[in-house]
Parts: sequence; structure tokens; C-alpha cells
Amino acid sequence: GEFTARSLSIIASLKHLEGPMLPILHAIQAEFGYVPDEVKQLIATELNLSRAEVHGVVTFYHEFRDHPSGRHVLKLCRAEACQSMGSDHIADRARQVLGIDFHQTTLDGAVTLEPVYCLGLCACAPAAMMDGELYGRVDEQCLGDMLREARR
Ligand code: FES
Repeated sequence: GEFTARSLSIIASLKHLEGPMLPILHAIQAEFGYVPDEVKQLIATELNLSRAEVHGVVTFYHEFRDHPSGRHVLKLCRAEACQSMGSDHIADRARQVLGIDFHQTTLDGAVTLEPVYCLGLCACAPAAMMDGELYGRVDEQCLGDMLREARR
């Protein structure tokens, strides 16, 4: 498939590590933006695991993605400090405006919504990250601005 050659060279360069699975998955995601199904199979074969075991690791860790993301990725903090400052309301609003749930991408491919568990910005809760950029004290207005910008 389209991912094979590049994936095999990534796997070959990391499989000697002790506990090679996570470094390999990180490298694959950095390369393709997600972990394609066919690559899970390649990793499984190379590490003598089942495809289901590799899939289990991909779904267990929040930072790995099963599908390509949208053009923009909005991560909303779901951890405690942000929850106490109203992140649930912001999350509901984001789901409503985008018409998707967490781990989904809008039909136009513009925005992927992902949960994150602490962005290290607890003092400025609720926190969000849009395309790698941190935002603190996120309110409805700020959220609306981010989403409008992203969908232009
Ligand atoms: Fe949300 Fe720390 S709990 S940034």
C-alpha cells in the first residue's frame, strides 16, 4: 500500500529499542498524521504481535489517531482544573456548533475535536489548543472566534 515503504523503514530504525511500540507509533503518526490500518498490520508483523494488540495500544493512548485529522485540530482540556472552571459547557458548545462529538471530524474536513487531559495551563482554565497553539480562559466568544477562523 501507499504507506508500506516509509513505514517499514521507520519500523526498522526503531524496532531494536526496548519497548519499541510507542516510539514506532509516535514516528508513524508524525509521518502520516495518524496510524493507518495497514501500518498497524506491518507493525504487528515486524514485532511479532497480533494486529489487535497494536490496535489496542493505538486506541488506549489519546495522542494516537486512527483516522486522518481535519485541516484543524481543536483539543479541549477535560481534566479537573478546567472542569471546575466550566470546560464541560465549552465542550458542549463546541460539539453543538461543530455537529460532532470528540474524536470526530466535521464533514467538510475542517475541524477535528479531541479531548486532552491537562495542557499545563490550569491557572488559566479552561484551556484549549488549536493547531498546537494554547488558549486560556476559553469562553464561548473565544471558542466561536477559533471555530469561525478554522472553517473559513
Ligand atoms: Fe486543563 Fe490543566 S486541567 S490545563
